Parts: sequence; structure tokens; C-alpha cells
Amino acid sequence: MKLNKKVIAAVLASAMVFSMTACGGSDAPAQEAAPAEAETPVEDAAETPEETEAADDTADAATEAADEAADAAEAVVGEGGNIGVCIYKFDDAFMTTYRNALQEILEGKGYTVTFMDGKNDQAEQNNQINNFIAQKVDALIINPVMTSAADQIIATVKDADVPTVLINREPTADQMSAYDKLVYVGCDARQSGTMQGELILDTENQGDINGDGKVSYIMIQGDPENIDAQYRTEFSVKALTDAGIEVEELDLQRGDWDRNKGQEIAQNDLAKFGEDIEVIFCNNDDMAIGALQAIQAAGRTVNEDIYLVGVDALDAALNEVAGGNMTGTVLNDAQGQAEGAVQAMEDLLGGKTYAAGEQSIYVDYVKVTPDNVADFQ
Ligand code: BGC
Repeated sequence: MKLNKKVIAAVLASAMVFSMTACGGSDAPAQEAAPAEAETPVEDAAETPEETEAADDTADAATEAADEAADAAEAVVGEGGNIGVCIYKFDDAFMTTYRNALQEILEGKGYTVTFMDGKNDQAEQNNQINNFIAQKVDALIINPVMTSAADQIIATVKDADVPTVLINREPTADQMSAYDKLVYVGCDARQSGTMQGELILDTENQGDINGDGKVSYIMIQGDPENIDAQYRTEFSVKALTDAGIEVEELDLQRGDWDRNKGQEIAQNDLAKFGEDIEVIFCNNDDMAIGALQAIQAAGRTVNEDIYLVGVDALDAALNEVAGGNMTGTVLNDAQGQAEGAVQAMEDLLGGKTYAAGEQSIYVDYVKVTPDNVADFQ
């Protein structure tokens, strides 16, 4: 918990610095609200006394409009507005933790919040987004079903002029640049992959349990459409090869972030490759918990004859790390991301806009081992 708070504080501090630098005046509500016509006469103001007066009036009107807009934004921020939240599917262990954190923070701040379950169906989620827009929500928080649908989602919210925070599934900077009232809050998945590799490097034999000079592993991947799955798969192994370790991939299969699939894949691979498997990398903890069931059913012992790592630091995984049944995991800070997402949403409601290339806000991952697991429980 201690660490969590530090991470959050760091994120919020950097978000504030970022908001000050990125705003630079031109994104402030005053400018947003001032109509273009009001700005032009101000530029010619010095020409004649009449013109100066007219310009002053226009400038006053612009300031008034800006104040009103700022008041309106404040009313939404301070007194609670209507927020629509779209989750890619409720039946996802990590996103359940994240959703609960979001609900607590938003309701604690007085917002009226409605959560929708996309049921892993992009068409269904598109309808939900359209419904929220029809209901005139003040802001949206969206965890897209498919990153490949980002263009369409961004075009829709831009068209409706609804400030939007994307979470958990990161589109490209280029896609986000289409709309300046849009921001992504999440993590840099490369970092989590690297940390998984480091967890293996930190073991007494650097993952080479049978001493044959190479680390033989299976990779249980999340949904490969998702950048988190792609980066974790790549960077976990890269951490080993960067350290000069030879690796052998025995199998790579998609487990779609799902515990049962993790169990099935591990069970089949353990039957097929037996003792040759030295490491099981799982792109998330839920699949790792499934893999652990298969490992135990096969009579293998984690940290003795096989290593197992995940990502997320779900409660169940923290217990297994503490009990020595998982080599380690990586905190995917749901609380920190939820805090960051709400902060970004309030910044947007306050009139902040985001320049292209500056639309991603990252929360750090943290390595979890038996040594520090108590800090997270
Ligand atoms: C988490 C997974 C989760 C996925 C959903 C990832 O960041 O690690 O547990 O299933 O996000 O998109």
C-alpha cells in the first residue's frame, strides 16, 4: 500500500507538471470558450478610440463567456456530473479490480457513474458509447474491446464533443492525435515484460534449472491483438537475451488473459515437454494461477523444478508469491491508474486539451517478489 501511494503521488505530480507545461495558456478554458470572432478585434484594438472601446467590450464578453464556461466545468467537477464508463468485459479479473477502484473514486467524488459491460464484443460496446452520448454524459472513460476499433471510437466521441479518457488498451499516438479532448491513462507494457525477465534473472540459476546452458520456456500470451500481450511477450524474453542468456521457446499460445485457458495450455505443454520446461511466462496473473493448478497437478514444484511469473499482482497471485508457489509477479497498479484516469477526466472537464504526442499518461509497474510481497498485501 505504501508503494502504491508513492506511485500515485508521482503520477499525479507529473500529471500536474505536464498539465502546466502542455497547457501553455492556449488550452485554458478562457481560450476554449472565447469565440474566434472575439479574438480578431482585440488584435486591432490600438487603431482608434472607438475601436479600442469596441474591442474592450468584445474582450469583456469573451472573458465573461470564458468565466461561464469555467464555472460550468467546475460545477461538473465539483458537484458531480454524469460519467459513462465502458469496460471491455466485466468478466476479467484485473479489470474487475480496476472497475471497483474507479467506482469508489468517482462515487466518492460525487459523480453519478454508469458502468457498461462490453462483453468482449466491439459492436455491443459501440452501442453503449452511442447510448451514453445520447444521454449527454459529461465525460466518458473507455476500456476498448479492440484496440483496432480505436479510430472509430475516437471519431465518435470527437463528433459528439465528449471529453474521453481511454484506459488499459492503448491506441497509437497517431490515432489519439485526431481528438485533443482525449487522453490515455495506462502503463508502458514493455516495462512489465522486462520486469518479468528480471524476476527470472534474479533466480539462483538465472532460469537454467537443468544446467544445459539455455532457458527453455513456454509463453502463455494474453489476447495478441492487445499491445500489453505483445510487449510482455517480447520484453520478458528480451531481458534474458539482453543479459546474454540463451533461450529456447518450447511453445507460445494465446490464453486470452483467461485462467481456464492458462490451465489448459500449461497442462498440455507439461504433458508434452515435461521436465524440459524450466520457465512459464504468463502475460497476466489470472493465466498464471491457471498454470499453477496444472503445475501442481503434474507434480512439479515452483522455484524448485520450474519457475512461474505473471503480471497484475492480483490478490490470489500475491498469496501464491508469498507462499512460494509463484516466482514473482509485477504490480499492474489498478488503483494508481484509476486515480490517474479520474484526474485526467477532471482536467478535461476543466477545459484542458492535449497536444498530439502528449496524450499518454503512464503509471509505473513494480516488481513483486517474496521479499517485498507483504508491502502489496
Ligand atoms: C492485464 C490483464 C487484463 C488485460 C485486459 C492487462 O493489462 O494485465 O490481466 O486481462 O489488461 O485488457
